[in-house]
Amino acid sequence: MGVSKILFLCIPLIIISSATTASSGIKAAYWPSSSALPPSAIPTSYFTHLFYAFLQLDPTTFQLLLTPPDHHLMPAFTSSVSPAKAILSIGGQAADSRIFSSMSRNPDNRAAFIQSSIRTARAYSFDGLDLDWEYPADPQQMADLASLYQEWREAVDQDSLASAKPPLLISSAVYFASSFFLPGDVPRTYSGDAIGLYVDFVSPMCYDYAGAWQPNFTGAHALLYDGSSNVSTSYGIATWKGSGVPAEKIVMGMPVYGRAWRLEDPRQHGIGAPAVGIWQEETLGVMNYSAIVEFNQEGNATVVFDNDSVSAYSYAGTDWVGYDDAISVEYKVKFAKAQGLGGYFFWALGFDSHWELAKAGTYPNPNTPTLFVFSK
Ligand SMILES: *[C@@H]1O[C@H](CO)[C@@H](O)[C@H](O)[C@H]1NC(C)=O
Ligand SMILES: *[C@@H]1O[C@H](CO)[C@@H](O)[C@H](O)[C@H]1NC(C)=O
Ligand SMILES: *[C@@H]1O[C@H](CO)[C@@H](O)[C@H](O)[C@H]1NC(C)=O
Ligand SMILES: *[C@@H]1O[C@H](CO)[C@@H](O)[C@H](O)[C@H]1NC(C)=O
Ligand SMILES: *[C@@H]1O[C@H](CO)[C@@H](O)[C@H](O)[C@H]1NC(C)=O
Repeated sequence: MGVSKILFLCIPLIIISSATTASSGIKAAYWPSSSALPPSAIPTSYFTHLFYAFLQLDPTTFQLLLTPPDHHLMPAFTSSVSPAKAILSIGGQAADSRIFSSMSRNPDNRAAFIQSSIRTARAYSFDGLDLDWEYPADPQQMADLASLYQEWREAVDQDSLASAKPPLLISSAVYFASSFFLPGDVPRTYSGDAIGLYVDFVSPMCYDYAGAWQPNFTGAHALLYDGSSNVSTSYGIATWKGSGVPAEKIVMGMPVYGRAWRLEDPRQHGIGAPAVGIWQEETLGVMNYSAIVEFNQEGNATVVFDNDSVSAYSYAGTDWVGYDDAISVEYKVKFAKAQGLGGYFFWALGFDSHWELAKAGTYPNPNTPTLFVFSK
């Protein structure tokens, strides 16, 4: 008793810790708050971390904006998903990236955002905060993002000390590769050092490699391997591992949706076959996995698993869709484990068919034959 009292008195009053190492085996998914799937229907046993997607920032005060539905959906979410961790995600593809660049450019703006995010997370009993800024546009914005990560970490540690609660987790959704070298674009690189020090994990969005912006050829939009280009999940993960971010802080993304085209000639139906535009224009060529399963069954589609890219596609007549099925999810999860990654995440909850892909990630079928996918 006496000894522990003395030790207690020796502990410094303020301890700024570095980010805690993300525990291995993260199984995460984003839940769009506009989803028809109520939080109470999320099968939490398939997941360890669930993201509430998304809140936005006020463009002048940089405080979090809550819409009327958020006020009741956030408590419903955080009370439903336990024991999975509830993480409040900010931003997303539809967010205006200029708001994030203005926020992160200036220390006062960063502080306003950070304090608002922590207050909101605590008020609604979230376990963590996630930033999905798509994307920092140049090296200055990447440096500002690194400052934000550092100050966010310091504030989260101070909040933990003051509240005597475990620190909020900090995570961030990021580009599929740690550097961007797109033609005609400004080259930029995430700060792997800042992420390693201050962020619990990053979530590379390993999908959307092909889509409506490339209407003349079919594409496997989330392929694991591509022999002819660097636009693949294996390449993106390799760049993240080479960036200084510890492997166990990398959480690989997988899509619960496909991307669809109209074939020019139904007899040419492979990946990269000539197309005359996207199919399913009303959703910009995006088909959720449950719609794909329905198309495969009701459309009498031919389903192909492509061993070389580790992806699935199906076609009927001139309708063609490329996607991840249960088998590609199983292989990707094996790949993530073989690479020592922290885990995986799905975009998004509600797109699955009878939780087939969620199950494939969590409980891979032991009878699935092993392909020689790790030799490439
Ligand atoms: C697709 O093909 C059309 C017609 O040949 C052409 O005008 C267009 O530039 C092509 N689009 C792309 C993105 O290559
Ligand atoms: C892929 O990236 C590597 C290095 O990261 C580079 O040497 C190579 O030229 C790239 N290949 C293509 C096809 O862009
Ligand atoms: C489904 O497709 C197969 C092979 O393409 C064909 O033999 C069969 O007649 C089709 N069935 C229906 C109901 O269209
Ligand atoms: C999935 O796609 C189908 C067909 O487009 C649509 O009716 C359904 O609402 C979609 N589900 C979700 C969760 O977006
Ligand atoms: C893909 O791999 C599986 C398992 O090794 C094998 O049964 C199948 O024939 C392969 N398919 C192709 C098209 O190579």
